[in-house]
Amino acid sequence: MPSKVFSDRLLAVLSDDLRPQAAQRLAAAEPVLRRLLAGLYGERADFDAWLGDLMESLGALYAARPAELRALDAKRAAQPEWFLSQRMLGYCAYVQNFGGDLNGVAARIPYLRELGVSYLHLLPFLRPREGENDGGFAVSSFDEVDPALGSNADLDALTAQLRTAGISLCSDFILNHVADDHAWALAAKAGDAGARAMFHVFPDRAMPDRYERTLGQVFPQVAPGNFSFVEALDGWAWTTFYPYQWDLNYANPAVFAEMAAALLRLANRGIEVFRLDSTAFLWKREGTNSMNQPEAHQLLQALRAIVDIVAPGVLLKAEAIVPTRELPAYLGSAAAPECHIAYHSSLMAAGWVALAEQDTGMLREVIRNTPALPAAATWLSYVRCHDDIGWNVLRAEASADGSDSAARLARVARFFSGAEGSYATGAAFQSTDPNAAHGSNGMAASLTGLQSAATEEERALALRRMLLLHGLALSFGALPVLYMGDELAMENDYSYLHRPQHAMDSRWLQRPVFDQQRWKHRYDVSTVPGAMHQALAKLVRIRSRHAALAANAPRALLADAPEGMLALARGARFLTLMNFSGQPQRFTLQGEWRECVAEQATSGTLVLEPYAMYWLERE
Ligand code: GLC
Repeated sequence: MPSKVFSDRLLAVLSDDLRPQAAQRLAAAEPVLRRLLAGLYGERADFDAWLGDLMESLGALYAARPAELRALDAKRAAQPEWFLSQRMLGYCAYVQNFGGDLNGVAARIPYLRELGVSYLHLLPFLRPREGENDGGFAVSSFDEVDPALGSNADLDALTAQLRTAGISLCSDFILNHVADDHAWALAAKAGDAGARAMFHVFPDRAMPDRYERTLGQVFPQVAPGNFSFVEALDGWAWTTFYPYQWDLNYANPAVFAEMAAALLRLANRGIEVFRLDSTAFLWKREGTNSMNQPEAHQLLQALRAIVDIVAPGVLLKAEAIVPTRELPAYLGSAAAPECHIAYHSSLMAAGWVALAEQDTGMLREVIRNTPALPAAATWLSYVRCHDDIGWNVLRAEASADGSDSAARLARVARFFSGAEGSYATGAAFQSTDPNAAHGSNGMAASLTGLQSAATEEERALALRRMLLLHGLALSFGALPVLYMGDELAMENDYSYLHRPQHAMDSRWLQRPVFDQQRWKHRYDVSTVPGAMHQALAKLVRIRSRHAALAANAPRALLADAPEGMLALARGARFLTLMNFSGQPQRFTLQGEWRECVAEQATSGTLVLEPYAMYWLERE
């Protein structure tokens, strides 16, 4: 059918004043959308009718988009690189831990502004499953705020207040699975065939066993295997994560249409960025690990085309914790844009490796493997998040120098669990093989040695290590996101061990409640939280003044730095020197420079103390 037929279905729903702009956006994105969806679902006899209905539902969501958000769309469409600025800074927190509830988060907006935050990622706050719910990652309704955290009206009020403060709200959009008490799951359990078809359900073990031959495991110890027998279904449901998180079947076009609409309804509430959870797993294919499949990318590109039509001010962020070489695809290309932002988990993990090994070889390899990105796209850089630091994304880089990558990464993992005389106080996350590299958990302060520090000197070193990793995230050329508590050097939270439902999942170690006492000390540099907070805030301020540190400004590694150091040039006028080792390192500067933190002119040969960092601008 001609393109016009589908575009007309969308346009027909709109009022006269909205139609011209919608027609323009459709002209740009509808052919792309149709091609992608035809690639995924075009074989079906009802494809045209389905696509027509989808377009009509998009029209209704377009019509429902509030005028204020439409104005934001227009502003951002005129400036598509707005989020690449060196003034962008993210902050990530659990609602309940940061503010108690959504209103409590709103009360912390002045604190976020003071820190320079312009992007707030609140971890899952939609109605989760009753009982254990993987920190909210098992969603039972995409249309309701978790009643424990507030109401939909509170969410609307929060997005409005954040917008006024110049902060974009980012929400998880958990699109790979829903909770086993989501309406679709309940209907499927009650025998509704349409609802059952939203999931991958198998009558016996035949297919699950075939798939399992090549699948990995995300939670091998607490949730082994990828399929769970569900009595009410009299069958096996695909459950990549916990058994109560049922994977959606994107081979069914109804799933795509429903999820796209759910995302846009949230966008119409003022959510400006969606963290697309577990994107790597969206498409299953026998004989593979069912990760990073081409169809997963087509789905994400189709979602992007839909956002570009209905809510072009909205950003999509890919959470794909996959090897470096698989990452760029999540940002797409100029011809086929996908997400706007992708987590650079390899960079994050390699920063920690550099600390453990006191050598920047693997980190440099990651940076060398990090390609230039299409316009209006960026990496997300970070030091920590709510999940484990997964070492296995670094397998390729870990063997680049001829090392046995598994043994090398396992050593790093052991280092952060405190073995081998290490200063780190972390916990090993799960792995199938005790000799393989498991993930590591712990707050940044604990992993960098603050928790075990017994002397002033050890505390000072821990602080430097923390600043070093933050300095990397802030100066790399990305959208940096701080993790709640790290700015105050908060340490591990062991309370999870007393909660039976969490005790087996050590990711809770790094999910503490915001420490009000530390916060009160944030200006007092004689305290650890104050020293961390002030030093970090200073880096943030310096960064915001230097266009050379924008996400899309050039970046180059200087090869002449010693192995314990990283020298990262940002154009010809900015240079970051980072010593990841416990030994002093020397570096000779060409020309006259000014160190931005100490605010001092400098030149010639510099000696960097253990774990020291210099941010230099050319005089
Ligand atoms: C993502 C989340 C993680 C969660 C998983 C399943 O990886 O970051 O916390 O357990 O998805 O939703």
